[in-house]
Amino acid sequence: MRSWRSASEEDTRELGKALAAELAPDGALLLIGALGSGKTVLTQGVASAFGFDRSEIQSPTYTIIHEYARAGSRFVHADLYRIEPEQIQGLGLEETLAGPGVKVVEWADRLPFVVPRALCLRLTEDGVGGRQIVETE
Ligand SMILES: Nc1ncnc2c1ncn2[C@@H]1O[C@H](COP(=O)(O)OP(=O)(O)O)[C@@H](O)[C@H]1O
Ligand SMILES: [Mg+2]
Repeated sequence: MRSWRSASEEDTRELGKALAAELAPDGALLLIGALGSGKTVLTQGVASAFGFDRSEIQSPTYTIIHEYARAGSRFVHADLYRIEPEQIQGLGLEETLAGPGVKVVEWADRLPFVVPRALCLRLTEDGVGGRQIVETE
């Protein structure tokens, strides 16, 4: 299992960009970590590698799942922070995550099912202004 240390928001964004190559064309990235740990920043890095502007990729507020499509690239961003566990089943997320495009899920520890072949990362603040990012099962 790999791990990285990010010293800055920019570092985390670059990691997302670097991971895009292994996520293309249809992979899923599951992100676990507290509020402010950098999940959205990492997601922006992934999205930028597929030509989506990072300003487009915000934390979904009322929409749990955002889908972006452009020039043959499909990118899905889900954030489960504001959803009740019993509501997740109704989103069709299991099908979406098995479907086409690159999919990133924030608060993926709330998923009530296993995502086959997903890359899973846990982000934590390291106490000295950086982030520890660790690949998990
Ligand atoms: N090394 C780092 N990596 C990512 N974000 C960082 C880092 N250092 C500081 N930050 C700040 O932490 C915040 C992370 O926010 P965000 O990505 O929205 O977190 P999450 O989506 O996990 O709640 C941003 O304000 C960012 O500027
Ligand atoms: Mg977020």
